Amino acid sequence: MTEHTLLVCSLCRFSETQNKKHGLSGGQHLIEELKKGLEEHDWSDRIEIKPVSCMAACRRSCAVTLAANDKLTFILEKLAPIESVPDLLKFIEQYVTTPKGKVPYRERARSIQQSTSFILPPLSDSY
Ligand code: FES
Repeated sequence: MTEHTLLVCSLCRFSETQNKKHGLSGGQHLIEELKKGLEEHDWSDRIEIKPVSCMAACRRSCAVTLAANDKLTFILEKLAPIESVPDLLKFIEQYVTTPKGKVPYRERARSIQQSTSFILPPLSDSY
């Protein structure tokens, strides 16, 4: 049952040095690698990857957002399309399996700590 969503900008670019090596955009490459990586996990049916066209973070690509009902929303930027995949898969697992999505800061990979731009409260929380 899908209950979590990972929005990934499919238009984000590779860096200048990586750009010519791949036929895909950086974001599309990230999407493909995440989909492959998710196949190896038994919790993968709990998350859906949704490509989006630009999240207004073009100068800080790649950009992703991890969200679910009644959980924190994490907005991450500056993710390398190739190198960030293992840490991002680990963080997705932590998020999926943690109540309210409250993955403790010290338990997040360093690359995830550094790429986290915003953390928003669950929309269901009263203010
Ligand atoms: S192209 Fe990815 S955020 Fe704009």
